[in-house]
Amino acid sequence: MDDAGDGAGACGATNSAAPVTAGAGGYSPVAQALHWLVVGLAIMVVSLGLAAGSAPHNSATRADLLLVHRSVGLTILLLMVLRVLWRWRHPPPPLPPSLARVEAALAHLTHLGLYLIFILMPLAGYLASAAAGHTGTFFGVFEIPRLVPVNERLSQWAIALHLVGQYVVYLLVALHVAGALYHAVIRRDEVLGRMLWHHRSARFGS
Ligand code: HEM
Repeated sequence: MDDAGDGAGACGATNSAAPVTAGAGGYSPVAQALHWLVVGLAIMVVSLGLAAGSAPHNSATRADLLLVHRSVGLTILLLMVLRVLWRWRHPPPPLPPSLARVEAALAHLTHLGLYLIFILMPLAGYLASAAAGHTGTFFGVFEIPRLVPVNERLSQWAIALHLVGQYVVYLLVALHVAGALYHAVIRRDEVLGRMLWHHRSARFGS
């Protein structure tokens, strides 16, 4: 999960069983696409969740907002699982050696926290809905399976976790964005650039 030690591998490792690192350049196009897709969906899921929370109880608006919120949240869960699998086989490029150890440690901790929270939040949201007996549909296309029995207590615990968890999301995203801006504006190094398109073009010739 953590970037530490990623620097050992070389791009295009010959052993097919060995993970392929992105080398000293940028993240792979797949890693970049998954990252920015999750960014967009995260903005949507939080906005929809807050809008649903302030809509009148038992209103159609609230039900619609929650349906899209749940569907977007489950899409994030799916993408996060893909990200973990991708990262496992394609470790990210190492952080620049100019970074102080404390800076690198903070970056790794924030990344780990973001992976965990974007997996735990959809799971808690799903549990809250499923244990309350209403999972609803996935974007109106098919019923989301209910994998747990109805359990009011469990549902209430899960929703409490979900509501508190949003503040962990805000904190980690704020740290992450502040870190990216610090590198781009103050240190003017390539840390942010590794997740941007131009790096992808430079490395992959597209
Ligand atoms: C990364 C994924 C998710 C994030 C970041 C997220 C975030 C949020 C936020 C910010 C709220 C508003 C809380 C408030 O009103 O203060 C919320 C509410 C809620 N979310 Fe999620 N959510 C996610 C995924 C899900 C999923 C997958 C489900 C269900 C399958 C779900 C179900 C709910 C429910 C039932 C509410 C309560 C709305 C209410 O009764 O006020 N969430 N979520």
